[in-house]
Amino acid sequence: MKLWGGRFETGPSEVFERFSGSLDFDRRLIVTDIRGSQAFARALERVGILTADERAEIVSAFDSILAESAAPGFYEGAADEDVHTLVIRKLKERAGKVADKIHTGRSRNEQVSLDTRLWLREECDRVRSLLTGVMQALLTLAGRDPDAVIPGYTHMRRAQAVLWPHYLLAYFEMFARDCERFAEARRRADYLPLGSGALAGSGFPFDRAAIASDLGFAAVTYNSMDVSGDRDFALDFLYAASVAMIHLSRLAEDWILYSSEEFGWLELADGVTSGSSLMPQKKNPDSLELIRGKCGRVMGSLTSLMVTLKGLPMTYNRDMQEDKVPLFEAADQLCGSLEMARVVIESATLLPAKPAAAADESWVVATDLAEALARAGTPFHQAHQIAGRFVLESVRNGKKPADWTAETMRQFAPEFTGDFAALLDPKNGMRSREVPGGTGPHAVAAALAAAQQRLAEMSL
Ligand code: ARG
Repeated sequence: MKLWGGRFETGPSEVFERFSGSLDFDRRLIVTDIRGSQAFARALERVGILTADERAEIVSAFDSILAESAAPGFYEGAADEDVHTLVIRKLKERAGKVADKIHTGRSRNEQVSLDTRLWLREECDRVRSLLTGVMQALLTLAGRDPDAVIPGYTHMRRAQAVLWPHYLLAYFEMFARDCERFAEARRRADYLPLGSGALAGSGFPFDRAAIASDLGFAAVTYNSMDVSGDRDFALDFLYAASVAMIHLSRLAEDWILYSSEEFGWLELADGVTSGSSLMPQKKNPDSLELIRGKCGRVMGSLTSLMVTLKGLPMTYNRDMQEDKVPLFEAADQLCGSLEMARVVIESATLLPAKPAAAADESWVVATDLAEALARAGTPFHQAHQIAGRFVLESVRNGKKPADWTAETMRQFAPEFTGDFAALLDPKNGMRSREVPGGTGPHAVAAALAAAQQRLAEMSL
């Protein structure tokens, strides 16, 4: 069965059928296709194309088809061009003649836009709920070692000491923004395209607002040509997915390093690591490596659809059928990665002595010393010089911060008076960073509490 046979003298070639068919992948839209078509049947009743009985017959036939569609064998032998064609064929098989009216004043161009928007809305909700799972896992992990100190890095060199929860909250913020991006992607998809026809607007006076409220859309689209050619909403989703994957891949990279023998800060659970077929001692962070690796597939999906859409003439072109594989791929890889990340985080253990020692042995306190000098009246530029020379002297003589005393410090520089020796312990310097958003212990405790509150308030 074709939805368009009349104008043709021969059928499509077998190669073209195989090449152009999309049922293999767009069958994933069958639920939304049927829900959309049920709403459309109600719209057809309102414009007098279907009687109430016909509409009822169609809607209930669709319900049965929907129920059947989950059963094995439903797609067996299906040679339909796409999911829309399949659904109409099934309707004909079940409801007979009345099915011939279902496509009145409707085009597959708007139908595929509708189905994809309905699917995307749900997918955005699913992603947001998985994101909040990861965010909760980060907060729980932070709560287990609220006072642990790690060296923070810039240029992958030890920079300044921070609290472990402060570091975890940095990722919390990234995922919080990802949640916002998915809420925004959902909002942009939340316009009803039905009524647009193929490109010029439907020839039937549909009450579009009524269809929108039937399907729970916030509003109707503004321009029928735009609808036919638009996949911005898919790009928005793919961009949000790519950014979330970038965040996940950075967390994965950190933890691959932090759990290595060289760092030794983190113990990943046996359940998320694997061994080597050759080297008996290995415990490899494959779960994190795969999260990092899958980032490439999701970013590839965004690139793929951007390139597909670039330069397409107004309005619909069959090229646009190529939107679905990248969309499904990105959604699946992102959701899988979020689920995996949550399990990794939930099962990880910080070994706080290791990063604390790393902070103690390095010169992460140099900034604290320079700033304390500045607070005591030395202009910061000179303070920086003094602290820099102090570090140089230490490095030359193989001295760690703990090798200095108040006395030897004063001998090195008379500006090092009073309590400067206390700042050799990174925990003390951190107390000066109580600015909101800083790593001061009170600031971090407040940020943790606020994060927990924000997470609870996120409406899902
Ligand atoms: N399978 C098509 C797609 O995914 C549906 C729209 C077909 N429209 C058309 N004019 N051939 O884009």
